[in-house]
Amino acid sequence: METRVSARRLSELLGPRSVGVPAYGWLADGIRQLVADGRLLHGTRLPSERELLTQLGVSRTTVTRAYGVLRDRGYASALRGSGTVVQVPGGPVAGGGEPLELSSLQPTRDDVIDLTCAAPAATPGLNRAYEAAVERMPSFIAAAGYFPLGVPELREALAQRFTDRGVATDPDQIIVTTGALAGLAAVFRAGLNRADPVVVESPSYPNSVRALEHAGARVVGAPLVSDSVDDVAGVIRRSNARMMLAMPDFHNPTGQVWSDDERAHVARKWRSTGVTGVVDETMSDTWLDHPIDARPMAAHAPGCVTVGSASKTFWGGLRIGWIRAPHALVGAIARARLTMDLGAPVLEQLVVGQLLQSQGALSDESRERIKASRQVMLGLAERCPGWRVEVPTGGLSLWWHLPTESSTALVTAAERRGVLLAPGSLFAVDGRGLERWIRTPYALDDLTLHRAADAIAAAWGDVGAPATRSARANSA
Ligand SMILES: Cc1ncc(COP(=O)(O)O)c(C=O)c1O
Repeated sequence: METRVSARRLSELLGPRSVGVPAYGWLADGIRQLVADGRLLHGTRLPSERELLTQLGVSRTTVTRAYGVLRDRGYASALRGSGTVVQVPGGPVAGGGEPLELSSLQPTRDDVIDLTCAAPAATPGLNRAYEAAVERMPSFIAAAGYFPLGVPELREALAQRFTDRGVATDPDQIIVTTGALAGLAAVFRAGLNRADPVVVESPSYPNSVRALEHAGARVVGAPLVSDSVDDVAGVIRRSNARMMLAMPDFHNPTGQVWSDDERAHVARKWRSTGVTGVVDETMSDTWLDHPIDARPMAAHAPGCVTVGSASKTFWGGLRIGWIRAPHALVGAIARARLTMDLGAPVLEQLVVGQLLQSQGALSDESRERIKASRQVMLGLAERCPGWRVEVPTGGLSLWWHLPTESSTALVTAAERRGVLLAPGSLFAVDGRGLERWIRTPYALDDLTLHRAADAIAAAWGDVGAPATRSARANSA
């Protein structure tokens, strides 16, 4: 299936024409930015010159010249018959999925759709933010470039962001890390001794559980807070836990959000038992229907440590995350962090600073795109009889309940059809069970998403949905 962009859509994406630059330069640069930040994908057919000049109200020379510049710079190529297609200079690089287990560290084949990771493409405007950050670099290159706690302007911007969300924070409380996972690992290393019990809801995000295990923790599984906050409080009390890892905002994989009451309840339990709450806010920005109607966990539990990330809001490839800790814990966490690395890259920190300034959070465009993708993936409910899902109001995946214990069989069948999925058991805190559950991430480009949904529906047919089975039994 060929992808094309209509003249009308391209004009919308380009936005108003810049003044003070020649029209062909504006057009060529606009299309280049759209390719560079992933809004025009490699292989997309551009409108014909005639369609575009009519839509934009420019001369034919303008469009011809702009397409010529794009071809010269490797951002477009001429089709043999007629027409022009978008090129990513050097071609797109396969893979780039965030690995959920060691086997997926193997490079992904081009023709395989990797749904073991739930991460969106880069935010529109990423390329411009990089360009602006490069302009800022001269201020930094005269010195050595190590910022073990983070570049000051980013720490300030992040502190301000917490304060704006109702959690008064000063920049000294912020440590910039190379992603949320590295942030969590530093917090675990700082706060845990061997065999310390740590409570984690099950299912949970497996990489964080592995990080806990590596820090020597004894991981104690708890039910989901959204299912029974009293049961979770019971586990905290009985386990003598030292820490609890919490994901109150769009829990990965279920997408659930804790209510204010649940947050207050858990916070009280942390305080009364002396448990350090570690709050993973990686997904907090990914609301789709409405912003989260609850205060951040740190507003309820001032003693907790919060870990955030630019990965889902802006782009995973930035590898920038952060820790917000109470003053009393910052030093210990910073020291633990220095056993892992000496700081995040300056350029990427500046890029995140730019993006926080220019768009603050997930862009409306990304949100609309992800919402539409969620709708496509929800279509599996009709195609796969017996599948049930609670539609999450945010996050990046659906957590399906299957009518039979067939998660692993489904993963195997889907792999044969070119889609990699993670079985329910991977999200179980003890790595077992959850055979009635499957996670389907949906933040994919349109073409891939439809192919993935088709393959999953077909794989479910291969596994033998219950209806098919009884039909077979009747005919036998
Ligand atoms: C819940 C959760 N925490 C942490 C991470 C890791 O984030 P980062 O890319 O910032 O290391 C992810 C990535 O998917 C995640 O889903």
